[in-house]
Amino acid sequence: MFFQELNNINCKTYLIADLDAGQAAIIDPVDSYIDRYLAILAYHRLTLKFVADTHTHADHRSACTALRRLTNCLVMMHELSPQPTVDKRYIDGDELTVGNIHIKVLHTPGHTPDSVSFYVNDDRVLTGDVILIQGTGRSDFAGGNAGDQYDSITDKIFTLPDKTLLFPAHDYRGNTETTVGLEKATNPRIAGKTREEYIEIMDNLNLPLPEKIQEVLQINQSEVDDDLIKFPMIAELNQVLQMEPAAVKNRLEETTDNCVIIDVREDSEFTGELGHIAGSRLIPMRSLPKVIEDLEPLKKKEVILVCRSGARSTTAAAILKGLGFHNVKNMKGGMLAWNKLAFPVER
Ligand SMILES: [Fe+2]
Repeated sequence: MFFQELNNINCKTYLIADLDAGQAAIIDPVDSYIDRYLAILAYHRLTLKFVADTHTHADHRSACTALRRLTNCLVMMHELSPQPTVDKRYIDGDELTVGNIHIKVLHTPGHTPDSVSFYVNDDRVLTGDVILIQGTGRSDFAGGNAGDQYDSITDKIFTLPDKTLLFPAHDYRGNTETTVGLEKATNPRIAGKTREEYIEIMDNLNLPLPEKIQEVLQINQSEVDDDLIKFPMIAELNQVLQMEPAAVKNRLEETTDNCVIIDVREDSEFTGELGHIAGSRLIPMRSLPKVIEDLEPLKKKEVILVCRSGARSTTAAAILKGLGFHNVKNMKGGMLAWNKLAFPVER
């Protein structure tokens, strides 16, 4: 296996390649380093089979979609990723291959709901931001959960052999790798801590938000790169009222007067495998700024936003709230949750 970190900065991108088979995968590519990735692929005569992000990043723009456009590779993300352009969505336990290299997907939520770790050839794990070297990724972004993160680390990472190498998505102290054994014994955040102690620590970190979080999250979650949409602050996202799918269904069964469902996915998703809720109105995130004026009459109505996993629509709900829509809600878990409950859909 040819394995290399490509950025040499505190934000890490990994190349996993089988030189004999001429195949590669790039994990967590960063938008500003695309030329470098293309150069190394060309140098080793590698075909890029797929790119994947370990989670929806908040600190840099992902290069996944751009690399797909340039190389025809597949974009792979977890089932819960809000990103619309994904060719294959994996879940916990799925096996991916790059030539003779095998990669097992471990769903390790906590930093974000869609966080995964990649267990490569049974000897190393790309951990994303779930566990870092002598640290752990923050769990205070929208959708983060310190308890889930504790479970991910203790049940999925720390149960691997002690000598397993760990490669995180970030390191701020110039380190490049660690091992399960070392982190289990010495990681100051989690070694020897109970779940309750860990949650207490994480809830009191009071970290500043990454500088460009608004622009970056907006693009990575929705691929909307448009100055007209001002991405809401995390606090505003957290204030969006979340409505369970069952409550939405009940609401629609009572009466549809005064209640509008707006689906902010792409056209292809609206008519795709998850379908849409009967009577819902399709307004993709990217066209939201263009139709704001047309939505004026809905200001006094109850507006329920829907998307695939509930992330994009929470953003849309916060945007509408900021524009004076008073009764805006988000359907929690999106059409994934709606379908899981086997509620009716149209396609
Ligand atoms: Fe992250």
